Amino acid sequence: MAKGDWWRHGVIYQIYPRSFADSNGDGVGDLAGITARLDHLNDGTPASLGVDAIWLSPFYPSPMADFGYDVADYTGVDPIFGTLDDFDRLVAEAHARGIRVVVDLVPNHTSDRHPWFLESRSSRDNPKRDWYVWADSRPDGSPPNNWVSAFPRAGRAWTFDEATGQWYLHSFTPEQPDLNWWNPEVREAMDQVMRFWLDRGVDGFRVDVAHKMARDPELLDNPLVELDEEDLETTQEARDRRLAKLKSIPRRDEDWPEVHEILRRFRSTLDGYDDRMAVGEVYLLDLERLARYYGSGQDEFHLAHNFVFLTQPWKAEAFRSVVDEFNTLLPADAWPAWMLGDHDISRVASRYDEGGDGQARARVAAIMLLTLRGTPFVYMGDEIGQADGEIPPDRVVDVDGRDPERSPMQWDGSPGAGFSTGDPWLPVGSQAGTVNVAAQRDDPASMLSLFRRLIWYRKGSAALRGGDYRSLTDTPGGCYAYLRTAGDERLLVALNFTGQPLEYRVEGPARGRLELATDPARSPGDPVDLHPLRLAPDEGLVVRLEG
Ligand code: GLC
Repeated sequence: MAKGDWWRHGVIYQIYPRSFADSNGDGVGDLAGITARLDHLNDGTPASLGVDAIWLSPFYPSPMADFGYDVADYTGVDPIFGTLDDFDRLVAEAHARGIRVVVDLVPNHTSDRHPWFLESRSSRDNPKRDWYVWADSRPDGSPPNNWVSAFPRAGRAWTFDEATGQWYLHSFTPEQPDLNWWNPEVREAMDQVMRFWLDRGVDGFRVDVAHKMARDPELLDNPLVELDEEDLETTQEARDRRLAKLKSIPRRDEDWPEVHEILRRFRSTLDGYDDRMAVGEVYLLDLERLARYYGSGQDEFHLAHNFVFLTQPWKAEAFRSVVDEFNTLLPADAWPAWMLGDHDISRVASRYDEGGDGQARARVAAIMLLTLRGTPFVYMGDEIGQADGEIPPDRVVDVDGRDPERSPMQWDGSPGAGFSTGDPWLPVGSQAGTVNVAAQRDDPASMLSLFRRLIWYRKGSAALRGGDYRSLTDTPGGCYAYLRTAGDERLLVALNFTGQPLEYRVEGPARGRLELATDPARSPGDPVDLHPLRLAPDEGLVVRLEG
C-alpha cells in the first residue's frame, strides 16, 4: 500500500461489528462476516464504495454490559466475533484491497470482569488497587463526590464495594470501572496493548472517550447543574439538552490538562511505527478545547472527532460556522475530521427527517461530508440512507437508548436483510425490503450510487482530497457554499439546506461544469449557470469553475 498520510486523504468507514454481517447464523455480526463483505467496501473498482479504511468498534472479550465497550481482555477476540486468526485474516484481506484497519482502543475503563479489576477490588493493599479510582465515603456515608455517569440510567458515577469498604469510579455503567491514569503502570500496560495490535498490523486506533482519561486528582465536586426529569430521558433531544447544560459548567470529571501528557505518550508509541494514526473520540462541545487534542499538530491526535459538527441542527449557517471556526482554531499542521453518524447517535436519514425530507437531506449531507476539507468518517449503512431501526420495548437492550442506530446493516430484501440467516440480535429495520445494498447497487439514482460517485471522484481530485477551503459569505439564507481549490482545480460546492428553491449569483465566471449532484437526473459535464446559480429544494452540487 502507498505510504504517506493515508488518514488525511482517505475516507474512513465505521463498522459496528455486532450489526454488520453475521457469518454463522447466531444473529450477531462477526469478523468473518466483515471479511466476506469487504468487496462492498472496496474491490478496487468504482462498482464498490471505495473507502480507504475501516474503523472497527470493539470485538474484544467482553461481558457486553456496553456491547464491547466493557473490555475484559484487551488482546483477544470475543468468541461471539470469532478468533484472533479471523482477525488476522480480516486484516490481510483488507490490506490486499488497499483498505487500512483502525481498531477501537478503550483506555478510560475496563470491564469489571477484567483481571486487573478483579485484583484491584480484592483488597485495599493489592498491588493493582491504585490502577482504578477508589475513594472513601464522605463523613455522612455518601459517595466521594457528586459526579454522575454519562448514562443517566446508571445514576451516580460511584459504586460502593462492600468487601473493601470504598467506592470505585465509573464514568459509564458500574460494569465499566475507570482506570487511574495517574498510575504509571496503567500507562505502561496500555502501551503494551497498543503495541500488540500495531505489531499485528493495525493501521491505527480510534480512542474511546479520550477526554475522560484525566480528571481532577483531588476528586472535587463538579459545579451543580440543574437537570430536569425530562433531561434524563433516553431520547436524542434529552441527550442534547443534557450535554448543553453540562457544557455550561467547568467540569472536574473530564478534560483535565494531564490528558495531553497521556496523548503525547500515545503519539510517541504510534510514531515508533510507520504510517499509523490515532483519532480521538473527544466528546467536548467546545471547539477550542477540542482543538487542543491535536497538540502542536504533530504530537497528540492525528484527528479528533468533532461532536459540535455532528450535533448541529439541519441549518446551513450552523454547519458553516462550526467548520469555519474550527478551521481557524486548528494548529497549522492539523487536519479536521468530519462525521455525521456513529453507533451512539440517531442516523442521518432519521435525525434530519424532522420538518423536512430526511432522504433528500441525507444526500445533501453526503455531499457536504465528502467535500469538506478534512477526513470524512462514514457510519455503516449511511451509504444506503438506512434509517434508525424501530425497537419494540421488549427488544430494548442498550442502557442509553442507542439500539435504533445499531439495527442490522441492510444488505438485501430477505427476512434477515442478508445480515443473518438466524434471529438478529436487534430487529431488522422496517424499510429493509427496499432500502438495501442489493436494491441500490445497480440503480444510478440510489444513495449508494451517489456515495460511490462522491468517493471515487474525491480520489481523483486534489482539491477535494487536500486542497484549500473557503466558505462564501454572500450566500442567501439556508445556503452553505464553499470553494475547494488546488492549483488550477477550482470546485464550488453549493448546498441548499431548505425545502425551497434558492438563487445565488456566484462571483467570478458566469458558467461552470457540473461534476456531482444530489439529483440523479443532472448529468456530469453539463454547463451550470452561475449568474445566478439556481438550486432546487434540498439540492447539492459540485461545480467546476473554469477560466
Ligand atoms: C464511547 C462509545 C460508546 C460507549 C462509551 C463508553 O462514547 O462510542 O458506545 O458506550 O464510549 O465506552
